[in-house]
Amino acid sequence: MNLKKIAAERAAEYIQDGMMVGLGTGSTAYFAICRLGERVREGLQIQAVATSEASDKLAREWGIPIIPFDQIGRLDITIDGADEVDPDFNLIKGGGGALLREKIVAANSDKLIIVADGSKAVQQLGQFPLPVEVVPFASEWTFQALEKLGCRPEWRMNEDERYLTDNGNLIADCRMESIVNAAELNVQLNMLPGVVDNGLFVDMADTVILAKDDGSIDERH
Ligand code: A5P
Repeated sequence: MNLKKIAAERAAEYIQDGMMVGLGTGSTAYFAICRLGERVREGLQIQAVATSEASDKLAREWGIPIIPFDQIGRLDITIDGADEVDPDFNLIKGGGGALLREKIVAANSDKLIIVADGSKAVQQLGQFPLPVEVVPFASEWTFQALEKLGCRPEWRMNEDERYLTDNGNLIADCRMESIVNAAELNVQLNMLPGVVDNGLFVDMADTVILAKDDGSIDERH
């Protein structure tokens, strides 16, 4: 049983003709894009914005019409995955490195639906390393600033090289263990001049669809 697929395909049912849709990134959002692709082939009329080069490519392969973000107004619904979801729907995202475009698209969506298997539900955020996107120009200064904040950063690597996002930036994964106040930390991180954004999504998700081990769906609004 593929729990990611179950959750993602449930979310795809929300999409209707004429909608402008945000396409998330990652192994769960993948199934939502594929299901929407099937529906487009069956006649569903939508336009979409992708949150990563990978999702852009996948959507185009399915024939989903992709529009550059700068050419749209509001999005109706975005479907995306998450690395952690707390009981207040606060999230850690960016395990796949797409946090910046994901947050921009989510912030411009009337509805953000998060899809995941049940293992992503946590009581408190922080066990999953929090991704922070950093401009290369100020990498060492910003790394030290993150250390001073107590974030315990580590550069994300791609074999021997530092990992680069679709925006040409670095990712510092911060081993926080436990995030007591996600809203405060989100602001503190984004106040650092070298930080582009971070993977805390505070008060952004409207609906969370979790597929439980037995295949049943836990859907909350
Ligand atoms: C991509 O950058 C992430 O925000 C993903 O949405 C998140 O990491 C969840 O990915 P999976 O669905 O692959 O677990």
